[in-house]
Amino acid sequence: MGSLDKKPLLPHYDILEDDDAEYLAYRNYSRGAVSECNWLQLHENAADPMHIFALHGMNDSLFDFDDVMGIRPQIDFVHSDRHVSYIRTTDAENGNRLIRTSTIFVPTGKCIPPPDVTGKNPEEETERARMVGWWVPVDNEHTIGYHIERIDPGKRIFQPPDGEVIRDYEETQRVPDDWEAQVSQLPIARHALEHLATSDRGVVMFRRLLNEAIDAMERGEDPPGTIRDPADRVVVVPSGNEVIAPENLTPVS
Ligand SMILES: [Fe+2]
Repeated sequence: MGSLDKKPLLPHYDILEDDDAEYLAYRNYSRGAVSECNWLQLHENAADPMHIFALHGMNDSLFDFDDVMGIRPQIDFVHSDRHVSYIRTTDAENGNRLIRTSTIFVPTGKCIPPPDVTGKNPEEETERARMVGWWVPVDNEHTIGYHIERIDPGKRIFQPPDGEVIRDYEETQRVPDDWEAQVSQLPIARHALEHLATSDRGVVMFRRLLNEAIDAMERGEDPPGTIRDPADRVVVVPSGNEVIAPENLTPVS
């Protein structure tokens, strides 16, 4: 979209910059081959730390999250002019602390850490995210998802990239997942119907960034995050899982 002379450089996400690693690019079929809703309501999902607890933690989610994700977390949010991250902290039953950071970028990129973390293995499970994904609008009411993922030997890939899962109505009612939460908001979610709460601070932050980016474009300027200089290409991704054993926790004074 737009004129060729304004075409920016593509970002280089630092977690995908290891020349010796193997990478897998695949379609994200988790919301159907083409998601039948606006891209924003899909994208905001990764700025919402409470849905993992409420939606995935309390039922047999398709994602197969560990029980540690069903423990109610402490949540915090940070942002720059081009990304929002949530920081989600849970104390597992074994005494370990799990700190999980997930990020969405303006406009459509996201970086979610491995979902199969259990909080049981501080050494093995403390790692930076390995995937970057994008929700790409087809039009206002249809969206396609893509992921690029670094393949680490012995680690599970983020999502099964082998095609669309068709679920019947009964099953989606008994075991709702992201698809039911997002696509059921109407083809374009009506923000006037929302009751935003403190856990939605990440969503609010992101909408502000998006509005600022749109305002910049209307003034004829580059939106924040636009890369023109090759020296600025590397994006340091803040996402990851950190598991801390009790003996290594810093006491709060
Ligand atoms: Fe989810």
